[in-house]
Amino acid sequence: MNKVKGTKDYFDSEIDSFAKARETLFKIANNFAFSEVITPILEHEELFKRFLGLETDIITKEMYRLNDKKNRALVLRPEGTAPISRMVLENKLLKQNQTKRLFYFGPMFRYERPQKGRQREFYQFGVELFNDKTIFSNLLIIQFCQTILQEFAITKFKLQLNSLGSLATRKKYLVVLKKYYEDNKTKLSSDSQERIEKNVLRILDSKLIEDKKINLKAPKISQYWSEDEKSAFNQTIELLQACKIDYEINYQLVRGLDYYNDFIFEFISTDTKNLGASATLIAGGRYDGLINQLDKNEHAYAIGFALGVERLLLASAKEFKKPTLKIGDYYIIPLNNEYNLIAAKIFDQLRKMDYKIFINYDDQKLAKKISQAAKHNYTNVIIVGEETNNNNVIIKNLITRKQEEIEINKIGT
Ligand code: HAM
Repeated sequence: MNKVKGTKDYFDSEIDSFAKARETLFKIANNFAFSEVITPILEHEELFKRFLGLETDIITKEMYRLNDKKNRALVLRPEGTAPISRMVLENKLLKQNQTKRLFYFGPMFRYERPQKGRQREFYQFGVELFNDKTIFSNLLIIQFCQTILQEFAITKFKLQLNSLGSLATRKKYLVVLKKYYEDNKTKLSSDSQERIEKNVLRILDSKLIEDKKINLKAPKISQYWSEDEKSAFNQTIELLQACKIDYEINYQLVRGLDYYNDFIFEFISTDTKNLGASATLIAGGRYDGLINQLDKNEHAYAIGFALGVERLLLASAKEFKKPTLKIGDYYIIPLNNEYNLIAAKIFDQLRKMDYKIFINYDDQKLAKKISQAAKHNYTNVIIVGEETNNNNVIIKNLITRKQEEIEINKIGT
């Protein structure tokens, strides 16, 4: 029996890279003063149906549904923003005017067509910032994403921005957009023809050539922004320019989920070799209305983003994936059986000092054992042989290649 299509096993060097990715993301989140939260993998289907939009791909085609024994409709969560919003309300974590900075790391599930960097079970790292309506929260979120891309040594990407305006702006815009597509209906793909009634915004980001042609002349949302929305978007752009962050404005960027308003963005890979062209690495935006939709008595400004960890690793450069050598690792090699007991005692001495230690008791040549130590990225080899008659061992540093004889009770001090 093989694993389920679209899922992945992690072992050997891949689990090392995955662990390093997790560690790096947690470190950056800590630098930005965000705290970790964990929410359940199982949620009520209703949560996503109500807040992602009934006509979005996730709801119409991609959710893993199940009924429990009491016939409750549950799903394996497809994303993190709706669950985190539920969590902050349910646990009354939002105090008025107090910002809340949260992050999460965990598996998400979407029934999509698997391909490079697209899985049915994938890990997302995501960030949600509540109760901060300033333009600086837009900048902070973009700086957070930039830092991640830098740390993963990813250089081939572009940042695209747009603003979806408020609900009122979008209502006005959708009327005009619908009319435009209806007038050009016969030239659109059959998928997009269906979307005119159901989810007209999504036609704008269609990748099909026939749709792209029609999209070229489609009315732009920017023509319907209010003065405040225009000014907010311009201020965000000025901040990005002041911080020397490159961007492109894409009025056809819409995002696939219904909860967004105003500022939205995507970091898109331009690395056609490791990932197909135009794979989105990180995506997010503002969703100031979601909390109020969940609970009519509450309101919270909100902005966030999420990234696919597997996708990020595919895009990351070799230097990120190289395992980091840990100082304080010891690989103990007893020269023959006679020295096994003393090696075991040295192991115990170092373990109490919190080092990572491995003893190789195998009956192999010394050179072979040393090459094993190097292969598994140990820094120090302890050779336990006749020097133990004087209470000493040989320590060889595999990085500097230096070798010295030291007293047993001085190892690791
Ligand atoms: P999303 O655009 O659906 O947004 O997903 C965010 C990121 O998750 C994508 O850019 C991609 O890197 C990764 N991703 C999505 N689907 C897959 C897949 N099937 N396989 C691998 N990676 C995938 C959200 O989920 C929003 N909740 C983001 C957000 C947070 N907005 C505000 N806060």
